[in-house]
Amino acid sequence: MGWSTTHCLLWLLSLWIWTECQGQVIRIPMQFQASFMASRRQHRAGRTSLLAKYNVIGGGPETASRNSGATETLDNRLNLEYAGPVSIGTPGQPFNMLFDTGSANLWVPSAECSAKNLACQHHHRYNSSASRSYVPDGRRFAIAYGTGSLSGRLAQDTVAIGQLVVRNQTFGMAMHEPGSTFVDTNFAGIVGLGFRAIAEEQITPLFESMCEQRLVEECVFSFYLKRNGSERKGGELLFGGVDATKFSGSLTFVPLTRAGYWQFHLDGVEVGGQVISQHRQAIADTGTSLLAAPPREYLIINSLLGGLPTSNNEYLLNCSELDNLPEIVFIIGGQRFGLQPRDYVMRANDDDGSSICLSAFTLMDSEFWILGDVFIGRYYTAFDVGQRRIGFAPTRSQSV
Ligand SMILES: *[C@@H]1O[C@H](CO)[C@@H](O)[C@H](O)[C@H]1NC(C)=O
Ligand SMILES: *[C@@H]1O[C@H](CO)[C@@H](O)[C@H](O)[C@H]1NC(C)=O
Ligand SMILES: *[C@@H]1O[C@H](CO)[C@@H](O)[C@H](O)[C@H]1NC(C)=O
Ligand SMILES: *[C@@H]1O[C@H](CO)[C@@H](O)[C@H](O)[C@H]1NC(C)=O
Repeated sequence: MGWSTTHCLLWLLSLWIWTECQGQVIRIPMQFQASFMASRRQHRAGRTSLLAKYNVIGGGPETASRNSGATETLDNRLNLEYAGPVSIGTPGQPFNMLFDTGSANLWVPSAECSAKNLACQHHHRYNSSASRSYVPDGRRFAIAYGTGSLSGRLAQDTVAIGQLVVRNQTFGMAMHEPGSTFVDTNFAGIVGLGFRAIAEEQITPLFESMCEQRLVEECVFSFYLKRNGSERKGGELLFGGVDATKFSGSLTFVPLTRAGYWQFHLDGVEVGGQVISQHRQAIADTGTSLLAAPPREYLIINSLLGGLPTSNNEYLLNCSELDNLPEIVFIIGGQRFGLQPRDYVMRANDDDGSSICLSAFTLMDSEFWILGDVFIGRYYTAFDVGQRRIGFAPTRSQSV
């Protein structure tokens, strides 16, 4: 931000392009549920929805057709850390939205959806007739999810996040939301923060519109997830820069290998000092809590952790032995990013009410690692759209 501020002041001094200096930095508080404890079923569902997501988006990594949970009811309740307020139309219609770097479209439920579609009926719905700034688009859109398609029509309208007002944003009005995927979510729709290359219809994603319309100071957004021990406690999404008070040291940036997903090169992964993987790709995805590993690494990591495999592709860990588990280190841009057991072990309520410990490392039948909130929570993450790079630094410890 320092460079940008100076840059801006210089423009000001020369009294030249005033608009250069109108870019803003906007903080969006993310919601959280205090002392939220997921059920085992929700953990399973979180994994299933992750697999479904990467199974279906063109050009993405292939996923496990062998996954035994693939037909399970989708339920995203686990993955709500990064939901926050967005307003669409004039006057603004408010929505609570999931901010997802693992997809690139913006969609909300439509006021015209069927009364039988529960997911749609359970949430705020966008009514285009009630917006003066609505422009019909006419095109249909569909986004495939594991159990069916989310579909409807495209629209164009004003989308506001805090004081950032994006004009002429194209987005989806969902008439049909598949299965029970989105029924119980605390978000109505999704703001995809991936790149246009993975967007349906190549629609300009919201953040790219913010950059094009020069609404933000820098073409960068950052995620900060407050953590307290193993609890998740909300956090903050910053549009337009990074907040250096939220991390220690400096950000380690690496270039994106492809600007579609937030995909980058991983130098390697170590478990307790042992190198178990070299030269793989990773994708940073705020839309999942989990860490997905390619098949071979998935087996190695979970056996090194002493996990007990279950029939659901889960690994149970002994909750009394967590202190003896190793650090797991991701090497990115030559720097070491370690995760401790308190980061990668997920506590859940079993069906009988007892507390169990599950490994966050999930099977993904691909060459890719998916680094979800388990990683992004530990490491402040800067998504630099302008320079096509991603940066990580240790989140500053548990202060408010
Ligand atoms: C949409 O808004 C219009 C205009 O305010 C209103 O007449 C109509 O009933 C609304 N439709 C729905 C489904 O809420
Ligand atoms: C939005 O579209 C209108 C009509 O096409 C155009 O006049 C206006 O300049 C556009 N605004 C932006 C910020 O692109
Ligand atoms: C978590 O937060 C509580 C109060 O908000 C504090 O007392 C406790 O020490 C924190 N725990 C950790 C591990 O930071
Ligand atoms: C878990 O670890 C504790 C302490 O080391 C041990 O007493 C217990 O038998 C272990 N439980 C299982 C199911 O292995």
